[in-house]
Amino acid sequence: MTVSVTRTGAIARVTIDNPPVNAASHAVRSGLMKAVADCEADAAVTAVILHCAGRTFVAGADIREFDAPPQEPHLPDVIAAIEGASKPWIAVLHGTVLGGGLELAMGCHARVAAPGTRLGLPEVNLGLIPGAGGTVRLPRLVPADVALTMIAGGKPVPADAALASGLIDAVAGGDLLDAATALAGDVTPEPTLDRAVRAPQDRDAFDRQAATLVAKARGQVSVAEAVRAVERALDLPAAEALAAERAAFLDLKGHPQARALRYIFFAERGTLSDPRCKGATRPVEQVAVVGGGTMGSGIAAACLFAGLTVHLMERDAPAASAGSMRVAQILDGAVTRGRMTQGARDSLQMRFSASAAPADLAQADLVIEAVFEDRDAKTEVFAMLDAQTRADAILATNTSYLDVTALARTVADPSRVIGLHFFAPAHIMKLLEIVVPDGVADDVVATAAALSKRLGKTAVLAGVCDGFIANRVLTAYRQEADALIEGGASPYEVDAAMRGFGMPMGVFEMQDLSGLDIGWAARKRRAAAGVPGYRPAPISDALCEAGWFGRKTGRGWYRYDEGAAAPCPDVAALLARHRPDRPIDADRIMARILGAMQREGAAILDEGIAARASDIDVAMVAGFGFPRWRGGPMFLSDTP
Ligand code: 3HC
Ligand code: NAI
Repeated sequence: MTVSVTRTGAIARVTIDNPPVNAASHAVRSGLMKAVADCEADAAVTAVILHCAGRTFVAGADIREFDAPPQEPHLPDVIAAIEGASKPWIAVLHGTVLGGGLELAMGCHARVAAPGTRLGLPEVNLGLIPGAGGTVRLPRLVPADVALTMIAGGKPVPADAALASGLIDAVAGGDLLDAATALAGDVTPEPTLDRAVRAPQDRDAFDRQAATLVAKARGQVSVAEAVRAVERALDLPAAEALAAERAAFLDLKGHPQARALRYIFFAERGTLSDPRCKGATRPVEQVAVVGGGTMGSGIAAACLFAGLTVHLMERDAPAASAGSMRVAQILDGAVTRGRMTQGARDSLQMRFSASAAPADLAQADLVIEAVFEDRDAKTEVFAMLDAQTRADAILATNTSYLDVTALARTVADPSRVIGLHFFAPAHIMKLLEIVVPDGVADDVVATAAALSKRLGKTAVLAGVCDGFIANRVLTAYRQEADALIEGGASPYEVDAAMRGFGMPMGVFEMQDLSGLDIGWAARKRRAAAGVPGYRPAPISDALCEAGWFGRKTGRGWYRYDEGAAAPCPDVAALLARHRPDRPIDADRIMARILGAMQREGAAILDEGIAARASDIDVAMVAGFGFPRWRGGPMFLSDTP
């Protein structure tokens, strides 16, 4: 039974059991409607406890139903029936109480949560707004500014914050059902909708907060709609606000942005469907990272945050201590930003060590190599790893471009070698490319997939080629951007078009940030190696020859006087020496850039480097900030 009712004395227990996340599917909604009727009809029942089996309370409406016409009973009607019941309903919450799940809980007359429960209205992340009264009930339970952050920001809050704001009535350890039963006598069936809104004390500050949320969304319409819905809840009678919320929700459900966001939601969950990701894994508790520079320190921190024990190995003692400092700075940053307490940080530090002694790698279950991007340097490190590590330890490389199969063949047992390509900064960026060389053991692939989940990464499998998936697409659209400026466009027009499209920054700003010398070195390497598709970039080369490497030298495509980026007249003069200016409109720029991404994506698929187009989209969204609400370049090529 998806929804069952049992009775102990005068208390009815309504249990939802709809794995994996108890989504409010048609069966759940129908079951709840019947449960309300049964409890109302049973004179022996004086209070009802609503809870869920399994790992979570209802995590939202069933997203899989969104592409079909809505089926009765609708969630708002189910919630209205519960709210209007003559007996108190108490929601017992655990896991992730999200979207329609939180709306259901808010329709109940009291809420008790287990410690560790997270509660939120993440609908904006699916291109929607809450559609079952969330925008109207939440500002009646919590202050308006808190409601706005939750609804238009879409981030869940922990149970203690929910208690402090008034969203829930109690946090209870131990047996939650007993705690709810104890509370039952004190709860009256007062509808949440009958409460007054908790209007903002300073409406101007509230309006500024709303404007900031909309600006940060960079064109995502659901955020602006969510703001409007909260404003309606503050300004209109509840019934009117409810009707307007539902209409906006139904409207948004069919919007191209919502379709794109649903697509990427499921695409992210489908990237590791390869059977090799699902088999037996090797235990990983002790990780060693070789090379403690930009990437190695970030990878070490990511592993520490995930609860692993980490040893960092560097070339010599001073480099080991510099690497340790970098890791310590990342941990300190987490404390400063309020992500963890000093005590938690200190306990992570206890699981960290660093040295320059190869013998210290003997206990590692997994070694991640992150030394310079140089074939000889890496080959030397792998020879050392072959000698120093356990025969069953997994050897991973973080190389960005080198041939992982060739590297694997340099050790006695190539089946234990895999690519784990993190993105900078590795403790923050979501994307992890699991690069699968020829001959790798299945349990090594499965272990990498399990590790990616433990690290909280969005992982995609990639075949071996120059640049794997994300960097390969990046190279293609960078080359197109170079072609655009060689044809007469200005780099500032190109960047503005990309930002207007929803990218966090333009391709030239990005180059200035990471350093133009990196692309210069890559071009020289490609030219020397005769990589197919290599394209020279004389204008970029000219900037590098002038020593303009971007932010770190104070100038690149832009000038950085006092930190702020400004178009540079010297760059304009340099461009003018190469070609006449020919302005080009933003749509045409984006058509060219997207076309380059899509052509490269098609080649990546043809060569079997990615298993499915949606993996390429996930890589571009998680790795390079391609706007989620546009789905990804491959999604756009299939969408009229
Ligand atoms: N509907 C349908 N399926 C869902 C779902 C949902 N709301 N939420 C999760 N699933 C599925 C996933 O697709 C996945 O399926 P799979 O095993 O076949 O790939 C499975 O449940 C497990 O999900 P995850 O792999 O994501 O498991 P996690 O434990 O990592 O995360 C979660 C669980 C935090 C609940 C996460 O899945 C999540 O954030 N889900 C979406 C929550 C959400 O956006 N809710 C709002 C929906 S819209 C709404 O409620 C509208 C309302 O206002 C009317
Ligand atoms: P980096 O130059 O910042 O760090 C490299 C570190 O390796 C240095 O600290 C150096 O002392 C150490 N090292 C060199 N030889 C060593 C040896 N034999 N034993 C132990 N340590 C040794 O380089 P970065 O940027 O961290 O790059 C490392 C790897 O990560 C490269 O393969 C690179 O392509 C890859 N990568 C880099 C990204 C970036 O944005 N920087 C992104 C993704 C991957």
